Amino acid sequence: MTDCHDLPGFRYICSSKFARLMELMTGKIQDEKRQGEAYAPFAQDPNQYKKRFYIESYGCQMNFADSEVVASILNQEGFGATRNLEEADLIFINTCSIREKAEQTVRKRLTEFKKLKKARKGMLVGVLGCMAERLKAQFLEEEKLVDLVVGPDAYRSLPALVAEAETGQKAVNVLLSRDETYADISPVRLDSNGVSAFVSIMRGCNNMCSFCVVPFTRGRERSRDAASILQECRDLFEKGYREVTLLGQNVDSYYFADEVSGQTITFAGLMKSVADISPLLRVRFSTSHPKDITDEVLKVMAAYDNICKYIHLPVQSGSTRVLQLMNRTYTREWYLAKVDRIREILPDCGISSDIIAGFCTEEETDHQDTLAVMEYSRYDMSYMFFYSERPGTLAQRRYTDDIPLEVKKRRLQEIVDLQGRLSLESNKRDLGKICTVLIEGDSKRSDQDWMGRNSQNKVIVFPKDNTVRQKGEYVTVEVTGCTQATLLGRII
Ligand code: 5AD
Ligand code: SF4
Repeated sequence: MTDCHDLPGFRYICSSKFARLMELMTGKIQDEKRQGEAYAPFAQDPNQYKKRFYIESYGCQMNFADSEVVASILNQEGFGATRNLEEADLIFINTCSIREKAEQTVRKRLTEFKKLKKARKGMLVGVLGCMAERLKAQFLEEEKLVDLVVGPDAYRSLPALVAEAETGQKAVNVLLSRDETYADISPVRLDSNGVSAFVSIMRGCNNMCSFCVVPFTRGRERSRDAASILQECRDLFEKGYREVTLLGQNVDSYYFADEVSGQTITFAGLMKSVADISPLLRVRFSTSHPKDITDEVLKVMAAYDNICKYIHLPVQSGSTRVLQLMNRTYTREWYLAKVDRIREILPDCGISSDIIAGFCTEEETDHQDTLAVMEYSRYDMSYMFFYSERPGTLAQRRYTDDIPLEVKKRRLQEIVDLQGRLSLESNKRDLGKICTVLIEGDSKRSDQDWMGRNSQNKVIVFPKDNTVRQKGEYVTVEVTGCTQATLLGRII
């Protein structure tokens, strides 16, 4: 599970003042670009709707993907999306619980909805996602303006819950399911990119990392029917999409047994089938748990040009002692051997990580171990956090959150600084290289430049040449320059 990722397929327009404020406030420690994005309606929607909904999403890609499922369910019930809060009859906020700060952001946002609710009679406010699941009906007591509380496995019941809330009753459904995957609901994709899409392949997580609230908010792991995943990917390709990212908290443990054919399919098998749709369809995936990524997966990646050479392999800590407390089930040496194996089978593979500074009992030597693992692994990029104790997790129940905040922050800063150097070094190693880039659209700074990504998931910006190109096309680009975050190039 990875939140706040700037992965390919940045398909939402982040235009609200609030989102911009968030960007300014949070700086670069974690990528908050997508936080608080409002779900965009169809550009030209011919349908007449009885009601309008507004949905704003926080947290991981899975939450953003879920908001598309919610939009699809509401759409079928005759609700149309709006990005204009003032005209919304229903306001939904799809929430994240992974760190305390994520929850505070949502609470703050809710206070802003208060004024709107006063001004617009009959408007309903619903809280979706992980915070809804974690706090359940308690939410209704704490936040009086909230009318609906709906957990991640209960979105099918939304229309009924809305109807209930319309009668003045507060409506709650936070039941977790063992088998809900929303396999048959095709997410409404309303985007400005049209090139890359996220496809959810599984839900929940069984890993029980001691710091993580996800197993409690998203429930047990379950894999989505392979046939429905393939159908969704085929549809996307036919609509012009050229990149799919297979999404799950722990994609490598994907496993689906087809009761009709009697066949079973693993993640490696699924990836092969998706890659076989067309050589023009790029395949990415996120997130891998180091304990589960197999040689078979690495070999399938090597065998297919259209499976991108990029693995997000969260280490969390570089100290075996801390990893044990985190219940990550691998040692430092085991992780480093996995990095070696990736480099052996996929010499040009990009690797990124998630890192937590200041977990319970972390000593200065443990922190040094983390820095050393980063150096050894030569991460191209990392998402870096300081430990935030979450109620109900194993760590909260078993250990004391004993590292002072200043120490956590100082260690995090050292990690961020090191990653800055590693990212720059990684980009410098690419100078002069030739790569295939999928054009995603205009660069943020200038409509004279294209922006795309190479196989390793690095963003590359290059001038539009005089030939006619379009987003969704592949071009060959030579890397001619770089910053810490971006490659610069020219089409050859
Ligand atoms: N505190 C800080 N970071 C956390 N993460 C998960 N739980 C916590 C927590 N309690 C980080 C992990 C995970 C990413 C999604 O968020 O690094 O991989
Ligand atoms: Fe990711 Fe571990 Fe949390 Fe599962 S328990 S979502 S693997 S961090």
